[in-house]
Amino acid sequence: MTGAGSNGAGEPRPSVDRRPRPVVLDCDPGHDDALAILLALARPELQVLAVTTVAGNAPLERTTRNALRVLTLLGRTDVPVASGAERPLVRAPWIPVEFHGQSGLDGADLPEPAVRPVAEDAIELTARVVREAANPVTLVPTGPLTNIALFLRAHPRLVPRIGAISLMGGSLGEGNTTAAAEFNLWSDPEAAAIVFEAGIPILMSGLDVTHQALVLPPDIARLEHVGGRTGRVFADLLRFFAVHHRQRYGWDGPPIHDAVAVARLVEPGLVMSRRLRVDVETAGELTRGRTVADPEGLSGRPPNAEVGLAIDRERFVDLLVEAVASFA
Ligand code: BDR
Ligand code: CA
Repeated sequence: MTGAGSNGAGEPRPSVDRRPRPVVLDCDPGHDDALAILLALARPELQVLAVTTVAGNAPLERTTRNALRVLTLLGRTDVPVASGAERPLVRAPWIPVEFHGQSGLDGADLPEPAVRPVAEDAIELTARVVREAANPVTLVPTGPLTNIALFLRAHPRLVPRIGAISLMGGSLGEGNTTAAAEFNLWSDPEAAAIVFEAGIPILMSGLDVTHQALVLPPDIARLEHVGGRTGRVFADLLRFFAVHHRQRYGWDGPPIHDAVAVARLVEPGLVMSRRLRVDVETAGELTRGRTVADPEGLSGRPPNAEVGLAIDRERFVDLLVEAVASFA
């Protein structure tokens, strides 16, 4: 609802738009993608218009099946699901099985999908919901950016209907796939470059912030306790996702990368960020997919991203626990 009010002293209050923000979740579930879907569906601030899938954490057929299984678990098979790109624009596909297992969502007993994907592909479904939406739509990509780049290229007239892109990807510091790059950006750097150059405001949640978004054993116990079957399934997923992070980083809990891209739409103060110009390296041999920030403005190009740098971890965990509880 939109409208100007009064503070009782006769001063007009600035109007606040309380309508839910329409979003399209573009994902490659993926344990943390599953939590991003859960959080988006739980929150009244967001209206999930569609879920689209891309190859990334697993081949496309599996990420699509996983999205459908998560929606079936949550009783939200009314949300249309469409599958998209089977491989990156230019590069060869590469699947990181150690983090998410062979299925892409190993470790828990998820139901079989109760529905099938819609007949449209991811690009067509995104175009339709963006065209039909009353307000500009926010895209929330949490996998390689292939579908988003294809959509922007195929539907330039719809670009002004995209209000923002809140993406998980990139890093100003360490990489997690190479020394220089994070997985989603490394997987399809050409697609990522198209997205960062599209002129759409970007909320970038890269490893700088998502490596702080850890869910620790007591958090997993809380979530399991409040969530009935949903809690048990997500606790099992989190315990599986923790294993490789413990081996590789020595952390007690896994980082829930993708849910950060959703959480910062729900609570704008949750993530501390800096407005920067960020471009994507596509030519470098050692630096493929590196997100290069320009804090001094040396390129003379305008800032294009609010880059997440720090997060209130405890509040983030509360949001996840509340989300699980809402589906108990
Ligand atoms: C990203 O890669 C995937 O493993 C996760 O789902 C997340 O989107 C983190 O680099
Ligand atoms: Ca992901």
